[in-house]
Amino acid sequence: MYNYTLHQQVNDVFAAARLNKSSTDELFYTRLLTNAPVIQALYNEVYGTHEAGSGHFQLLLTAITHAYVQRSAVLRRKDVIKQATEHWFTSNQLAGMSLYVDRFCGNLNNLEERLDYLLDLGVNLLHLMPLFESPKNESDGGYAVSDFRKVDERFGTLEDLQALQQKMEAGQMYLMIDIVLNHTSHQHEWAKKARAGDAIYQDYYYMFADRQVPDQFEKTMPEIFPETSPGNFVYVSEAGKWVMSVFHHYQWDLNYSNPAVFIAMLENIFFYANIGVDVLRIDAPAFIWKQLGTTCQNLPKAHTLLRLIKQCVQVAAPGMALLGEAIVAPAAIMEYFGSGIFSAKECDFAYNATQMALQWDALATGDTRVMRVAQPILQQKPAGASWITYVRCHDDIGLGYDDYMIEQIGFNAWQHRQFLNDYYTGAAPGSPASGALFSYNPKTGDARISGSLASLCGLEKALFANDEQAIDTSIQKILLMQAQTFFLGGLPMLYYGDEAGYTNDYSYLQDTAKSYDNRWMHRPLVDWEKNKRTTEKGTIEDRIFSAVKRLLTLRRQLDAIADRSNIVWIAPHNIHVAAFVRRHNEQTIFCVFNYSDQPAMLTWYAFKEHGFMYPALFDHWGNTTYTVGKDHEYLELAPYQFCICEGRES
Ligand code: GLC
Repeated sequence: MYNYTLHQQVNDVFAAARLNKSSTDELFYTRLLTNAPVIQALYNEVYGTHEAGSGHFQLLLTAITHAYVQRSAVLRRKDVIKQATEHWFTSNQLAGMSLYVDRFCGNLNNLEERLDYLLDLGVNLLHLMPLFESPKNESDGGYAVSDFRKVDERFGTLEDLQALQQKMEAGQMYLMIDIVLNHTSHQHEWAKKARAGDAIYQDYYYMFADRQVPDQFEKTMPEIFPETSPGNFVYVSEAGKWVMSVFHHYQWDLNYSNPAVFIAMLENIFFYANIGVDVLRIDAPAFIWKQLGTTCQNLPKAHTLLRLIKQCVQVAAPGMALLGEAIVAPAAIMEYFGSGIFSAKECDFAYNATQMALQWDALATGDTRVMRVAQPILQQKPAGASWITYVRCHDDIGLGYDDYMIEQIGFNAWQHRQFLNDYYTGAAPGSPASGALFSYNPKTGDARISGSLASLCGLEKALFANDEQAIDTSIQKILLMQAQTFFLGGLPMLYYGDEAGYTNDYSYLQDTAKSYDNRWMHRPLVDWEKNKRTTEKGTIEDRIFSAVKRLLTLRRQLDAIADRSNIVWIAPHNIHVAAFVRRHNEQTIFCVFNYSDQPAMLTWYAFKEHGFMYPALFDHWGNTTYTVGKDHEYLELAPYQFCICEGRES
């Protein structure tokens, strides 16, 4: 409903910024005015009753306007182009890679020289792992930020980052970075002031004079790093208080019930937007709202805050998409796309962590049924929002799908997870994998898995044994895993090193700042002599790199692979085979993956059951044409074979 006071508030902010609402800034004025009621409603849901609430709302409008004022003409133009391209980020032309700048190539300047390597592979979006200042020995890989605006000198300077962004933009590449929203380093200036007793900054965190409230919180809050940082509070002796620190003890949780915290962090988001960030990865959004008596994860107000951020970004920097890094249960992940009138208006992207884990499940068991059971939930993703599809990232692999998905096919969930842990740590008899358990919690028996893609697929052991056949099998598994994520729908996010078959890097054990966290085993230091072998015919590096490159090329050529929420899973005619069809206009692509170490047969009926009556299929990957046979005849797939088949009339 029209709100006169709000209209005047917008006009006042506009006038104060000396903007011209009837010419150059008209588009922005329209965006602000039309979105202001929603922004206000969302804001009031969280801060409506806060004593400083209304004053801070004015500050919020000013922050949005200021962000627009600061936005360069180039970025404003890009905003318009992106908005005019329907869902620019769901395109099949995009493929990303996550990398640590220092471990990949030393610093930001060197990265400019490595862009060609990435473009050659087919990667045109880079997720640069946290770049902003973070204490060297207490950094959590950069996720403990002590200054949100200062690039850590290990990587270079802000100017270097801007220069890189411009070089990337000129090469039609996209930039993704993180905003670590949930916490700061205990060395951040806010934390320092809080530690020194400044009440204003103590209110930026959850600080308590005694254990009374912390003890109540602990009753229902799970532990994230039970081995290395047990509990959710740490005692700050200088202040004589307890502070909430859900992740490591040196990461203090921000108090978003304080509107000053929200505005300060929103301003940091805008600062990143105006560097030219195309996709902003919101780190750990599930944790940003805390409430006694709950797990303090995925709470409704966390969603309200994300929606509020989305609306504000939509007004000031509409070309920047938001990725919510919610690695939670399947149904809870779906909530990050927004619901009701906010459907597809919260996070533009979420990680398809469920599918990722289920591919690891299928690879270990050779059985795709659990993966199949999860799909009805995953398919509820609203059109216009998309997945990040991936086989692994810098974090551990959590088997976070629901027990009922395992039980529905007749397995015991506890035993099943136990088997997967044993399989990937190599403890299960005959397992080719070499990984490790991460954050094993003896109280609950829960554990996650560390290890590089290649090592988990058996390449490390195969190389050690000098076993050619095992090497071939592990490469086939690596490609099977990658291929499924490339054709599933969403933005594929490769992880650096995987394109060249990096096995686990155990050097972290010699570094006291890392040895307590075995996720570092899959965060390799890149050796460019090794990466050079990606261009030497027949090397392992070349076999993987050139296959990944070919898969990404194929992905770009097949229009049906863009994410139009156009995925239909094929019924599980064979439990070892995962298969789905992607269709757009006249193009029909069947993607078929055999997760078994044995040959698998798939009835031709599987290809017809959705009414597709193609006499022939052309496998773009295998470069083979198949004649579609009768229903009692079969397509035969070799162990771990996959095919990307297009329906053809002849
Ligand atoms: C995210 C990051 C992870 C980090 C955590 C705390 O989950 O991916 O690496 O430890 O947030 O910031």
